[in-house]
Amino acid sequence: MTDLVVSDAAQVATPTGSDGDNSNSGLEIIENGAVAIEDGVVVAVGPTADVTRAHPPENATESVDATGQTVLPGFVDPHTHAVFAGDRVDEFTAKLAGASYQDILAEGGGILRTVRSTRDASRDELVANLLENLDTMLAHGTTTVEVKSGYGLDVETELKLLEAIDEAADRHPIDVVPTFMGAHAVPKGADTEEYVDRVIEEQLPAVADAGLAEFCDVFCEAGVFSVPQSRRILAAGQELGLTPKIHAEEFERLGGSQLAADCGATSADHLLQATDEDIAALGEAGVTPVLLPGTAFSLGAAYADAAAFEAADVPVALATDFNPNCFSQSMESVVELACNGMRMTPAAAIRGATATAARAVDRTDGTGTIREGAPGDLAIATVTNYQHIPYNFGVSNVRTVIKNGTVVHRD
Ligand code: NIG
Ligand code: FE
Repeated sequence: MTDLVVSDAAQVATPTGSDGDNSNSGLEIIENGAVAIEDGVVVAVGPTADVTRAHPPENATESVDATGQTVLPGFVDPHTHAVFAGDRVDEFTAKLAGASYQDILAEGGGILRTVRSTRDASRDELVANLLENLDTMLAHGTTTVEVKSGYGLDVETELKLLEAIDEAADRHPIDVVPTFMGAHAVPKGADTEEYVDRVIEEQLPAVADAGLAEFCDVFCEAGVFSVPQSRRILAAGQELGLTPKIHAEEFERLGGSQLAADCGATSADHLLQATDEDIAALGEAGVTPVLLPGTAFSLGAAYADAAAFEAADVPVALATDFNPNCFSQSMESVVELACNGMRMTPAAAIRGATATAARAVDRTDGTGTIREGAPGDLAIATVTNYQHIPYNFGVSNVRTVIKNGTVVHRD
């Protein structure tokens, strides 16, 4: 029996293209559309008349009348640092008064401050914090999210963070992709080379043993981890079965994009300073670029050059980068910033927040699309046309969220 039928939608909007094919940066729009889901998987999508003939809503376990609304794939948020304790609202105010992110970090604030509060927090507190953030993400249409550790910077706390991610994932409908990021900052007073050794010799083996992470990420940045240090960490992670990801060319162009291409990273993220050469290297190596317009917005920095990626025909993924320095859980806001800040089209932004974002976390089962065989993950917005989502900025348009064919959020 059909578990769920969503019918009579003003539009069903889905990225086009088959598995692994990301060449078409458009969306397919079905007017007066419907979606049927069985056993958690999409079994039909098309005009309402066709879908409901085969899958009558009255016979389904659950049905949603989407009259006047737009159905999108659930958003995929492929870059967050969503597990931590405390906030840094005072640094927000200090930055507005002129302090720079790097000055704050160099003085022991920023990431290092969140490390202190996170070390002091219990695992249960971290689980509770993360669950609250996952609830907010879900309410804004996110159905898959990557979450990085990285506010521990020692074996014990990095494991505590990954355990908290694992437990929250078990208790929440959102699919959570766990990433180990012991190389997020250099602990206060530590020598960088020695800390890199500790990440490789102590943290990575413990994390791999526990089986709690899929990816290994590193903050490759001037004053943090150099390209050779990042390369050592990612290679060590790869040997233990963790797929590389990298924070690259955020404040300075250091060469993280080329490293990502060399080591076959799944994604390279930030890229505010990426050059045409970097973009070409990522494109040729099949590394998915992840742009984080919320971070540039929060830092008051210039946005990544989305047009340069478009010109090179290298599709970009979008993510929130949710963390104490970029405090938004909302992929709807990211889509708005991608359009209004980076001048992406609404179609390219929605594709970046769904199908291309799924590639940035190696999800090739149709996640981020609405087509037969894809997971039944939908975000339904109270707008008659997908373009209204970024057009109507600053408010949440998503009202109903479906995960694996079950309604998991309704406003
Ligand atoms: O992606 N750049 C490094 N990591 C985060 C910031 C984390 C923090 O400031 O707490 C980022 O922006
Ligand atoms: Fe980040």
